[in-house]
This record gives sequence, structure tokens and C-alpha cells, in this order.
Amino acid sequence: MRHPTAFAKKSGPTLPRDAKPLSRRVKIPLSRAGMTRVKQLYAARLAAGQLLPDPAQAEAAARLDALARQPSTARGWFGGAARTRGLYIWGAVGRGKSMLMDMFFEAVSLKNKRRVHFHDFMLETHAFIFEWRKLSSAEKRRHPAHVREAGDDPIAPAARRIADQASLLCFDEFHVTQIADAMILGRLFEQLFDRGVTIVATSNRKPSDLYANGINRQLFLPFIKRLEQELDVIELKSARDYRLDRLAAAPVYYSPLGPEADAAMNAAFARLTAGVAPSPEKLEVQGRTLHVLNQAMGVARFEFDELCKKPLGAADYLTLARRYPTLLLDRVPRMGLDERNWAARFVTLVDALYESKTKLVMSADAQPDDLYVSGDGAFEFQRTASRLHEMRSAAYLAAEREHAPEPAK
Ligand SMILES: Nc1ncnc2c1ncn2[C@@H]1O[C@H](COP(=O)(O)OP(=O)(O)OP(=O)(O)O)[C@@H](O)[C@H]1O
Ligand SMILES: [Mg+2]
Repeated sequence: MRHPTAFAKKSGPTLPRDAKPLSRRVKIPLSRAGMTRVKQLYAARLAAGQLLPDPAQAEAAARLDALARQPSTARGWFGGAARTRGLYIWGAVGRGKSMLMDMFFEAVSLKNKRRVHFHDFMLETHAFIFEWRKLSSAEKRRHPAHVREAGDDPIAPAARRIADQASLLCFDEFHVTQIADAMILGRLFEQLFDRGVTIVATSNRKPSDLYANGINRQLFLPFIKRLEQELDVIELKSARDYRLDRLAAAPVYYSPLGPEADAAMNAAFARLTAGVAPSPEKLEVQGRTLHVLNQAMGVARFEFDELCKKPLGAADYLTLARRYPTLLLDRVPRMGLDERNWAARFVTLVDALYESKTKLVMSADAQPDDLYVSGDGAFEFQRTASRLHEMRSAAYLAAEREHAPEPAK
């Protein structure tokens, strides 16, 4: 493999003058010899019986494997004179896109890599821009993300901050529905590409279908073109919706509570995670850390007490709903007047899951209509009960995930 020199000429526009000095662009192999590779990880799961053979996935794994072997620099990957192209994997639900991207992310040994849900990334970027606009000129100049020639443009420092943190960005569930995102994406990505950031993304839409029917879509078209230029676009054409296969194999609502329901929930978790050992994960929510004790393969498992007896709110539930396509909730109790706070949180949780079409498997003390019949908001709870019924339907279990906007603060 040809290693570029630190002064390799890039094909794109030049970096802003205040970019890190070239001497700091140290070459780091992304995936060192002997390190786990994407193809190996995939083969190991097949051999362990955790996955069914799927030629389309094997091909995508090979593409990701090749990308993980690219040489890199601390400021991005440069394959000779050309910048390293990222990958955009799109396809229908449950095909294994996120799973393959996770394997890729694990296989890449680069330290400054980041995997993030695309919607969370955009929220974070808007928040940075909002804060940036409030800074005085002097504060902006002193800020580590300051870009000298950017003037008042907040996108340049936003891009600089992102690029300083990661030269590989893995976006899960890339989608554009909101005009606020559509209008900044072009300039933001332009600058990320200029700064040598490589992007790998999963999506249910091909680039040319992003922001379909959006307001002022013509202003968004150059972004689509640029995305197609910068990333290799591949469709993951697996024949099956594996998530649906596993969800449809057994009921998703267990009642009443007891050893039988617990055993059924254990079996559901094992089936949905294909026996992959669960691990804890930390999620950032508005500057706080939300601890997820048990998760694997896009499936997280919680006790009702963890999520609804603690002071969590919509932002936490929305973050969970975005991160995990499937959630298991154990031991939902019957609630009354004294438990109205738990019931209110449960309503917010179910709304977040329902609106993003996150799949829910739960055990409960009663059927949905009998979970909360007498306290404050019991009338409104009927809507939650109705949603819980719908969330058990075949149509809901097969539905594409939705990307609900954040509630108004
Ligand atoms: N080859 C396979 N054999 C068996 N199960 C699989 C296979 N590939 C993926 N799965 C299972 O399917 C589930 C769904 O995969 P994943 O979440 O990666 O799909 P996705 O394409 O990202 O879907 P979405 O578009 O909804 O985000 C995974 O939890 C995994 O357990
Ligand atoms: Mg996915």
C-alpha cells in the first residue's frame, strides 16, 4: 500500500490557514496487522451461528473491510493523492446496516473515530451554532474552534470542532426531514470534507431521495451531488428483514408478571441479540450520562424501575429510542393514584418509542388497558394503551423507523 507523504496534495479545496500544522499529520494505520477486521468479525458471527449467511452482507462487509485497511493520517485518510472516500450504505429496514457499521467501527483502530446517531449529531451542531452566536468577538477569537477567515459564519467553527474531535465519523440512520438541517448540511459537510474527515453512514434512503419533498429542496440538491461524489454509495440488498423475523418468532407482550414472564423476556433478549454477550453503554443526554446496563445488537434491556421511577424525561427516552431499534422493558406494574409520576413517565417513554417506531418487548402486570385506570391522567393513558396494542401488530413490527423531532422546550 502506498503511503502518502505528509505533504500529499489533496484533490479538494485547501484547508483554512489556521488548520493544524502539517507536521502534526502523523500517519496511523487504521487497522493494524493482526487487529480484528470487518470480514473476520462477520465470519466469526456466522461461525458462531449468530448470523445467517447473506451474500449481500458479505459483500458490504468486504467493502467496509477494505475501507478499514486504508492508511490514515491524524487529519483524515489520504490514499495517495486522493482523499479516502467514505461509504454510504442504504437499504430497507432490518437488513444489517447498523450491525455492519458497528463491526467496521470496532475494527478501525484509529483513536479519533466517532459513531453517532445522525439526529443527535445535528442537534449537537445546532446547539453549538446557537451558543457560538452568543459569544462576543473577543470570545470567538479565543475559542479553540475559531477560524480566522470565517468572519461571522458559525458553520466554519462548528466544522472545525467536529473535525478536531474525529477524522472518522460513522453516522447511523442518516436522514434529512427538517429544513434547519437541510440548509446547513451543504456548507457543514463541504468543510468537513475539506478538513479530511471521512464519513460512513447508514440510511433507509439513497442520497437522491434525501429530503424528498422538502421545502426549498433545490437548495439541497448540491449537497446530494457532493455526497455522491465523496462517498461510495451501496445498497444493502439482503433478502430478509432479520429484525422482523426475530420479533415475529414469539409474542412481544407478556402478562401477568412472574417467573414465566421473566423467562420469556430472557428468551426474547437472547433471541433478538443472537446470543451476543450484552455489554453496558453510556449515552450523553444534554450533558448528562445515561447508563445502559444491558445492550447488544441494537437491543437494550431495562427494568421499569430504571426508566420510570427515576427522574428521567423526554430527552432521555428520545435518545434511547434513537439509539436502539428494539427495547425490552421488564416488569411494568399496575399503577394507581400514588404512582402517577411513574405513569406519566411511562406515557412519555411509550410516546418516544411509538413515534420513532422503536420496537418494544415488555412484561407487565396487566394488559395495556388495565395498567393505569384511576389516577390523574388515566383518561389520557387510554391513548398509551392503544399505542401499546398497536405496537404488538405485525405492521408496526415491520415499520421503518421514524425520526421524530424533539419536543418544544
Ligand atoms: N445475517 C443475519 N442473520 C441473522 N440475523 C441478522 C443478520 N443480519 C442482521 N441480523 C439481525 O437483524 C437485526 C437488525 O439489523 P440492523 O439493526 O443492523 O438492521 P438495519 O439495516 O440497520 O435496520 P434499520 O434500517 O431499521 O436501521 C440485528 O439486530 C441482527 O440481530
Ligand atoms: Mg439501523
